[in-house]
Formats: sequence, C-alpha cells, structure tokens
Amino acid sequence: MPLALVTGPTSGIGRSFAHALAVEGLDLILVARDGPRLEELADELSRAGDVACEVLVADLSDLEQTMRVEERLRRQPFDVLVNNAGFGLHRPFEANDIETEQRGLDVMVRAVMRLTHAAIGPMSEVGRGDVVNVSSVAGFLPRGSYGAHKAWLTSFSTWANLHYGPKGVRVMALCPGFVRTEFHQRMGADMGAIPSFLWLDSDDLVRAGLRDLRDGKAVSIPSKRYKALVAASRFAPRGIVEKLARQGR
Ligand SMILES: NC(=O)c1ccc[n+]([C@@H]2O[C@H](COP(=O)([O-])OP(=O)(O)OC[C@H]3O[C@@H](n4cnc5c(N)ncnc54)[C@H](OP(=O)(O)O)[C@@H]3O)[C@@H](O)[C@H]2O)c1
Repeated sequence: MPLALVTGPTSGIGRSFAHALAVEGLDLILVARDGPRLEELADELSRAGDVACEVLVADLSDLEQTMRVEERLRRQPFDVLVNNAGFGLHRPFEANDIETEQRGLDVMVRAVMRLTHAAIGPMSEVGRGDVVNVSSVAGFLPRGSYGAHKAWLTSFSTWANLHYGPKGVRVMALCPGFVRTEFHQRMGADMGAIPSFLWLDSDDLVRAGLRDLRDGKAVSIPSKRYKALVAASRFAPRGIVEKLARQGR
C-alpha cells in the first residue's frame, strides 16, 4: 500500500490532507503532540476507508522527538510527506521570550528540513515520492519571524523541486492565505476585521494543492484572490510594504 506521513493532522489543513490522502487509499502515519486526538482521527480514517493509520506522538520543537519521526521515515520509502505542523505568535517579536521564538523556528524550519532530509534519500532511490511543505503567502512579504520561516520553506521547496524533479520526486510549497482552522484561535488573534472573501476552506485548499503538486508546480497559491495579491505584492509601492512590515510580528 502507498504510504504517507502528515505532520499536524489533529486539526485544520493537516486534517484535510489526512482525509484527502486516505480517500486516495494511502496508509498514514499521523504525527502531532495530542495523542488522544491523533487516535480519534486514526480510528475515523480506518473506519471510513480501507487504510491503516499509525499514530506517532511527537513534539516537533523537540530535537529527540523529531529524530524519532526521522527514524520512522528512514525505515521504508514513503510515497508522500506533508510537512504541515505550525503555529503563529500573536505578540511582537521582541515581546516573545526567545524560547517561544525558537520553538517556531524549530517546528516550521528545523523539523521540515530534517524530515525532508530523512524522506528524500529513499524517495530518490526508488525514483518516486511527493513532499508538500505548508508555507504561507506571508513568506512573500516582510512579516516578522513567521514570514521569514515561511520564506525559507518556499525558497527551499522551489530549489528542491528543480533538483529532485528529474529523479522522480516532486516537492512543492503550498502557500495559503487566511484559512478557517484553529490557527488564529490558538494564537489568540481577533480576526474579525478580515473580510469573508479572504477566507479559504481547508478541504478546498488541499484539493487545489494536490492538483498543483501533480501538475509539477514548485509553488502553489490556491485561489485567484491570493494569486492576484501575491502578484501585486511584487510591484507594491514601498509605503504599503513598509506598513505591512510594521504590522508583521
Ligand atoms: N490557517 C491559516 O490561515 C494559515 C495560513 C497560512 C499558512 N498556514 C500554515 O498551515 C499549517 C497548518 O496550520 P492550520 O491553519 O491548520 O492550524 P491548526 O488548525 O492550529 O493546526 C496546526 C497543527 O500543527 C500541529 N502542531 C503545532 N505545533 C506542533 C508541534 N510543536 N509539534 C507537532 N505538531 C504541532 C497541531 O497539532 P497538536 O496541537 O496536536 O500538536 C495541529 O495539528 C501551519 O504550518 C501554518 O503556518 C495556516
């Protein structure tokens, strides 16, 4: 059976990925911190389809726990790796304690780099495999340390797509705008001012992302709205970029 590993499937975008891949018939390894929620999802997915789900509880801000996930990835070639786990920080950069900032970097950059490294060697050897790195449109703008982590993800994925594509391995950065998930509630942000037309549905987002992956795209920006916004941001007047940068955390 084809096999996928998804990080952060207990809610939001990762959960949508787990459902979409299970529907396609992939067995799943589900990685996050909340064991009971992972078990519940594994039961739900195995009952709904003919797939096997394994739960791997790990905090990806912790190096030893991340290395356990790497070991699992090295045990056999995987067909799909989705690096999705992540979180936002509501307070300004200087107001967060440095350990909180470090956790953001470790989950959204270090863990992605390490898990991709563990998976991509075996994928290249068999000449097949997909890696999706869930980035953000925030990576196209100066938007604090979060935007910088996502810029790293998008740049890394763009390079890896070119480098590993000829070896049969597709790598893609998925860059969403605002998506209705637990993300903003977890960071304690009031999103009341965001107009409804800017919100994306996570199942639609994942469907569009998987289509772009199979079309060989290195960077996927689902929805016409966000494609237009990212294109416009390249030519945005300096004043607007400065305003956005001041709002970045
Ligand atoms: N929602 C948006 O508007 C938006 C926009 C652009 C990009 N994104 C990106 O999309 C990705 C998924 O976010 P989401 O919107 O789906 O948010 P979410 O609903 O809050 O889900 C985040 C997931 O990441 C997991 N996670 C967080 N910290 C972790 C850690 N230290 N170790 C292991 N797993 C961890 C959580 O699981 P546990 O709590 O069980 O560990 C959860 O399953 C993130 O990378 C985020 O940056 C989101």
